[in-house]
Amino acid sequence: MAVSSRGHFSSRLGFILAAAGSAVGLGNIWGFPTQAASNGGALFLIIYLLMVFLLAYPMLVAELTVGRYGQSNPIRSLKSVWPNGKAGAIAVGVAGMVVVSLILSFYAIVAGWLVGSFAGSGLELVGASDAVSWLTGFSTPRNLILMVVFMLMTMYVVQSGVTDGIEKWSSRLMPILFVLFVLLIGYIFTQPGAMEGLKMYLVPDFDHFSAEVVVSAMGQAFFSLSLGVCAMMVYGSYLNKEANLPKTAAQVACVDTGVAFIAGLLILPAMFVAKHNGVEIFSDSGELLSSDTLVFQVLPAMFHSMGTIGELISVLFFAVMLIAALTSSISMLEVPVAVAIEELNQSRKLAVSWIGAIIMVISGIIVFNFGDLFGLVIKLTTVYAQPIIGLFITLIAGWVWHRNQVLKELKQGYPEIEQGLFWKIWPTYVRVVCPILMVMVFFFS
Ligand code: ALA
Repeated sequence: MAVSSRGHFSSRLGFILAAAGSAVGLGNIWGFPTQAASNGGALFLIIYLLMVFLLAYPMLVAELTVGRYGQSNPIRSLKSVWPNGKAGAIAVGVAGMVVVSLILSFYAIVAGWLVGSFAGSGLELVGASDAVSWLTGFSTPRNLILMVVFMLMTMYVVQSGVTDGIEKWSSRLMPILFVLFVLLIGYIFTQPGAMEGLKMYLVPDFDHFSAEVVVSAMGQAFFSLSLGVCAMMVYGSYLNKEANLPKTAAQVACVDTGVAFIAGLLILPAMFVAKHNGVEIFSDSGELLSSDTLVFQVLPAMFHSMGTIGELISVLFFAVMLIAALTSSISMLEVPVAVAIEELNQSRKLAVSWIGAIIMVISGIIVFNFGDLFGLVIKLTTVYAQPIIGLFITLIAGWVWHRNQVLKELKQGYPEIEQGLFWKIWPTYVRVVCPILMVMVFFFS
């Protein structure tokens, strides 16, 4: 393969925004705050931060380092660090590619709903109520068409390549996401009820402490940083050798965690503003309603109850969600596309077309069998497959890849690494502690 023909991120900031864009998605904008709300507020936040630091960050460095060393798609990158175990490397790479495609196939359905809610909020302003009902009501044609719309957006970005597509769009969209967040939080904080939500978020409730909460926080950290599906490995392969990997990974983890934290500052107060406006957010048994009910019914009901300004806020809110979903979905589609370009010698356009089409077909099958497949695919991919593949990648990075080679790779961009604390801890940590923690996540979940 001609390494020079591959796309590369043109700047470190571009990479950080793209990788943070991959990490920042529905998982942390929606999943994190609702998990925090159900699991003791700040208690969950503290455990989550520990999990990011103790488990996700070291593994993020491992995935990025394997990718940058290989300068290739995950299958070749894994083969390059495990030359004697080609079959194993291929199996892990292919598994990551299949799982990330399945994740994208359900993610695109949910993101399609966001497209509907975003367009619906805009149309509400001009009083097109029939269109709004179609866009926001649950039906098979609507789920199918909106999923296709979202997939076409994702395919458009990915087919433009690494610099002109992924980096350009992530660099455009991520700052917009931050600005919209600040606007929304500023507005929600002025609303009655908001402080109750803030209190729930920031005051730890230690009565909620349990092994399950720890496991949920681990899984959340893992999903949030897009680990175990080779997405970060592919992005790492587009990084140049001047980047300091431990530092860059820390920056990505900080942005991701920062956005999750900020999302909590928005969502929890917004839920209590909704409650104050008479919208139900807890079930009869006192449990928080499920997260899809909250995002697609409770919050729109709250926005609606605020009149025109509420509809405007609703447009902004769904724009934020949509941007977060898009910058994550492009990183997922890039995994199989990178494999097809390099292993099958295909043009990017061709690879994006047929892989995008297959993922749409899988999404379509899920849409037509929603009750049976939607939850099942989410569970199989995120609860089982992601941790198992993550475990294998960690084992390959920790046990198979020669330590001197790892050091040589990390030294590029960080020549003084041997003198620092990172190199004294990380190699053993990735070999021993990460796999044990991973097995625990899997065992308990
Ligand atoms: N990391 C992405 C998210 O959190 C997939 O949604």
